[in-house]
Amino acid sequence: MAFDRSIKIAPSILSADFADFGREIRAIEDQGADWVHVDVMDGHFVPNLTFGPPAVAAFRKHVKTVMDVHLMIAPVDPYIEAFAKAGADIITAHVEAGPHIHRTLQAIRATGKKAGVALNPGTPADSVAHLLDLADLICVMTVNPGFGGQKFIDMTGKVRQLRAMIGDRPVHIEIDGGVDPGTAPGLVAAGADVLVAGSAVFKGGSVERADVYGANIAAIRAAATGALAG
Ligand code: DX5
Ligand code: ZN
Repeated sequence: MAFDRSIKIAPSILSADFADFGREIRAIEDQGADWVHVDVMDGHFVPNLTFGPPAVAAFRKHVKTVMDVHLMIAPVDPYIEAFAKAGADIITAHVEAGPHIHRTLQAIRATGKKAGVALNPGTPADSVAHLLDLADLICVMTVNPGFGGQKFIDMTGKVRQLRAMIGDRPVHIEIDGGVDPGTAPGLVAAGADVLVAGSAVFKGGSVERADVYGANIAAIRAAATGALAG
């Protein structure tokens, strides 16, 4: 995984058919997804439950691109090894999930995986100021985590601040929540390069109508790259 700041679209399989993940993953990748975003929820840090390591290991067999695993769990540290073994390429933990995010990022890197740190909408950019050399990705939440399909919360100012703080470091800025062709341009103009999208990618499509996924991904990408050109 060489670092670059090109726009990457990362569909969240939280909006996929839960009885058909293998085909759903292959469909979004065939239709232009750059990464596959996997939302892990524990019913404690967030008010919803999704997948554990065995499910993530099963997804891995179908992912040809990059498996981006977003842990919305607390505590995080006891599970890092299991998600690394499940085949995550990137493991992202929340800065709010415990008192030792610095240690958590060290532990993720110690597994040989890329380390991400996520910030809830109410958490300021400054909270990661001392983590920039330990992180490969900063995930700016633009909804309160827990569910797909929520209303976008504008975090453009935070993205701009983070982009300035990151400087020349090889650190991605990822946006998660309510990303669609309308919200993507402002975020990319502010410095984001990875766009997670659940409902905006899966809406109207299915594995039988995967062309709809392709059109949805293309629409987000066109809006995003348009912002860079402009
Ligand atoms: C929210 C998850 C997101 C979510 C995005 O807790 O982290 O990845 O699936 O879904 P949309 O794009 O529908 O807001
Ligand atoms: Zn997510």
